[in-house]
Amino acid sequence: MPEVYNWQLGRKMLYPYEERHPKWQFAFVFNINRCLACQTCSMADKSTWLFSKGQEYMWWNNVETKPYGGYPQFYDVKITQLIEQVNPGGQVWNVRVGRKHHAPYGVFEGMTIFDAGAKVGQAAIGYIPTDQEWRFVNIYEDTATSMRALVEGIDKTGFSRDEPWKMTGSSLPEHETFFFYLQRICNHCTYPGCLAACPRKAIYKRPEDGIVLIDQNRCRGYKKCVEQCPFKKPMYRGTTRVSEKCIACYPRIEGKDPLTGGEPMETRCMAACVGKIRMQSLVRIGEDGLWAEDRWHPLYYAIRVEQVALPLYPQWGTEPNGFYIPPRHSPRGYARQMFGPGVDNAIEKYLVPSRELLAVLQLWRASQQIIFRYDVIPGPKVFETQIHGKRFEMYNDTVLGFNKSGKEVARIQVEEPIYIRPAERVSWL
Ligand code: SF4
Ligand code: SF4
Ligand code: F3S
Repeated sequence: MPEVYNWQLGRKMLYPYEERHPKWQFAFVFNINRCLACQTCSMADKSTWLFSKGQEYMWWNNVETKPYGGYPQFYDVKITQLIEQVNPGGQVWNVRVGRKHHAPYGVFEGMTIFDAGAKVGQAAIGYIPTDQEWRFVNIYEDTATSMRALVEGIDKTGFSRDEPWKMTGSSLPEHETFFFYLQRICNHCTYPGCLAACPRKAIYKRPEDGIVLIDQNRCRGYKKCVEQCPFKKPMYRGTTRVSEKCIACYPRIEGKDPLTGGEPMETRCMAACVGKIRMQSLVRIGEDGLWAEDRWHPLYYAIRVEQVALPLYPQWGTEPNGFYIPPRHSPRGYARQMFGPGVDNAIEKYLVPSRELLAVLQLWRASQQIIFRYDVIPGPKVFETQIHGKRFEMYNDTVLGFNKSGKEVARIQVEEPIYIRPAERVSWL
């Protein structure tokens, strides 16, 4: 089997196809800490693409409550267990290699879904969820738990007792009792499990933007994609007997929406986000297959420079292009097993943000057009304090966002304005 380079693992790994990269890659950052689980994203997606016969159970976008929630139920626990059965105790990171451009989180020394798949004669390890597991998209909504309950409840939940899951003593801002929302769409992975699995070669990754699509004419409903996508994002439709998945709203990415006059526009689920937790863009891929240096690109800056946003389950090996600012209050051990060893750095950066990061984070949902570049105009200092013993200064800088053609589409200040409701509109007077 060929070997490909996975920068999120800091090493090469097995993959059924030779390494090949698109010119640009669809990518996004979700800020977990701001999500209110209003499900507006889910409904925007559902009402745009998923309202026909046979699609009733489909949610290409879903928001689940961790740790118990999941759509389909317990998909992450099951995948993790399947790999651990093949490689017991070996799912570890070597973080001693330091932070390098090609290995920003260290080197993962365990097995990916492809490594484990090779051991059992499959492209990737996986399973097909039962109808029951697909049935309750928002099961365990707002259900809190504690690490003690997780570890003691091993038989019920399947959580591992291995080191990454354990809590090593909790102190604020970690909460022993916790839950958080995880927003999920297809990650348009660099090395998609779905694409690797399909015997019909019906799944392809577009060279112009890295969006992963199922060719509806080629698909014969073999469901290997459903089985071997670890994130369980391809979904089978009984009425057409083919599978479907998130299409990254590609007509909008292509600038086909008349609202933006030909300029790339963010997807429906991003644009609808009430909590302003989502930003999506396209990042340029260099000759070496890595993200080309693009210092003034907001996603490049957040993911590669500040490293405040991390991939979901990088150890599964698909190199997902969805990134998350990890939850600041959940036990670190839990967050680490989900987002890898970059969690501590990411939370530190988010808790005490640099002047530039604070400005750039204002761009989340500042425009429906895709932002390809930002700039910051310095403003006066408005506030200073100490956060966890570190000095923090806030400046009322102005951040600008530019679309693909270089036109300004967003201008927003760090200090958000306060609007005082006029007396005649105050209802309790
Ligand atoms: Fe394929 Fe799943 Fe990755 Fe989407 S998240 S590209 S469906 S492997
Ligand atoms: Fe749906 Fe588009 Fe979001 Fe994909 S990107 S989940 S197709 S709204
Ligand atoms: Fe292939 Fe999945 Fe269709 S495995 S044939 S794309 S159902």
